[in-house]
Amino acid sequence: MHTFYITTPIYYVNDKPHIGHAYTSLACDTVARFYRLLGYQVRFVTGTDEHGQKIEKAALKAQKNPQSFVDEVAETFIDLAKKLDLSHDDFIRTTQKRHKVAAQHLWQNMMANGFIYKDQYSGWYATRDECFYSEDELIGGKAPTGAEVEWVSEESYFFKLSAFTQPLLDFYRKNPEAIQPASRYNEVVKFIESGLKDLSISRNSVAWGIQVPNDNQHVMYVWVDALSNYLTALNYPENDMAENAFWQNVNHVVGKDILRFHSVFWPSFLMAANIPLPKKVFAHGWWTVDGEKMSKSLGNAINPITLIEKYSVDALRYYMLKSLNFGSDGDFSETRLVSTINSDLANAFGNLCQRVIKFALKNYDGKITKPIKLLDSDKDFLNSFQKIVNNLPDYLINYRLQKICEELWQVIYNANAYVDQKKPWDLFKTDPQQCQDVLWVLCELLRRLGILLQPLLPEASKKLLSSLGTEINARDITALQTTKKQYALQEIQPLFMRI
Ligand code: MSP
Repeated sequence: MHTFYITTPIYYVNDKPHIGHAYTSLACDTVARFYRLLGYQVRFVTGTDEHGQKIEKAALKAQKNPQSFVDEVAETFIDLAKKLDLSHDDFIRTTQKRHKVAAQHLWQNMMANGFIYKDQYSGWYATRDECFYSEDELIGGKAPTGAEVEWVSEESYFFKLSAFTQPLLDFYRKNPEAIQPASRYNEVVKFIESGLKDLSISRNSVAWGIQVPNDNQHVMYVWVDALSNYLTALNYPENDMAENAFWQNVNHVVGKDILRFHSVFWPSFLMAANIPLPKKVFAHGWWTVDGEKMSKSLGNAINPITLIEKYSVDALRYYMLKSLNFGSDGDFSETRLVSTINSDLANAFGNLCQRVIKFALKNYDGKITKPIKLLDSDKDFLNSFQKIVNNLPDYLINYRLQKICEELWQVIYNANAYVDQKKPWDLFKTDPQQCQDVLWVLCELLRRLGILLQPLLPEASKKLLSSLGTEINARDITALQTTKKQYALQEIQPLFMRI
């Protein structure tokens, strides 16, 4: 069986979740569900990043001890995962014991292989980014991201990142799909080509972190700690990553702001520990609000839970995935969310389901039998799904989630046009048999659509498939190869309300 392992970044628990976090999670969840639909054995993992100076400071500000502070905020992310209806197989918290074991083991391996040494660090640190910057990287006294920096001068363990300049370049030249989109790949390769400097990977002025093995004066730099969560989730070090079927096909999905950590630091740490490198890192874009970055200080962060309670998680998921080419930036607007719900979800999709199922229930008691002979045009219509299924693997590999939405909605528009053209309400009066044939084609179409929409609209597709009488075990991709001879329809619950 094919395996697929997909990860979200683990979220900092210094603040409440906003729609940026929801976006990464929903996109990963959708991809995970599509792979499961295609018959892959999937592991989908998300979690929280709970150590480091940023969290330490946030706890101090909240006048709480760090552990009770992170316990509290982590709950809001666990709750978000529930409200987003995520299908994750695991939720990692970096304060868990299993994670400490994994992170320390990774460190010891890198150390044993000679890639860690002790020295003195002097340079700038931006707590907001949890990132070290050299003097020449600063712009107007701030980090290139705009974050405030402070001068740090302390004893530190260093990682020999410089030793990986050439190995990384060799790897990326051989594996151009290891970073997507292509523009990001080019950016990273250019950065590596400029030469990598050794990296400070411990702090002795920060207390809130995983202790460096055999040195209680230092905690690990939070990115070493955080990145190793991807191994924790596969039960490292107990499981050997070189032989782990999930690790062979891992995709890390991240926002563009943290691509460098994932495409330069992470593969270097892995090489230093003799662990095979990830198949792909995909960097998605950023959501702005009215053209501005979301931030606490601007007070413009949008709470995804409010939106879910108002409009449903299916609506939020669909709007976010269909509105942006995955990889590009976009501006979030509740007005556009509402107009998408009205046009694509309530009018085009919901209405199609309602009008077909209600009509069949009213006039045929919901019993719709397969026609003795199908028109060629109807066969073509039903076969249009096969093309989408054939394209799916390619779209998924390239994270073309918007394209998948477009293709499925094209089928929905065609189906609505089919209803308008066949006019079952007139046909019923003149030729009830032919009318039933038309309804069967539509039920069959809705069944196939319902199956393919499960990853995008988990709740709505469940309602649709239940009303069509499609058994739970007949909802995978192989069910598209069969036709159903007899439908016994049930009332359909409303899918999307017009707003
Ligand atoms: N803790 C690190 C990740 C460690 S992974 C080993 C982190 N956390 S974060 O909470 O700040 O961000 C998590 C993810 O949310 C990142 O991928 C980030 O890009 C994404 N987003 C945060 N704000 C966003 C938007 N406004 N728009 C889209 N995604 C954004 O970084």
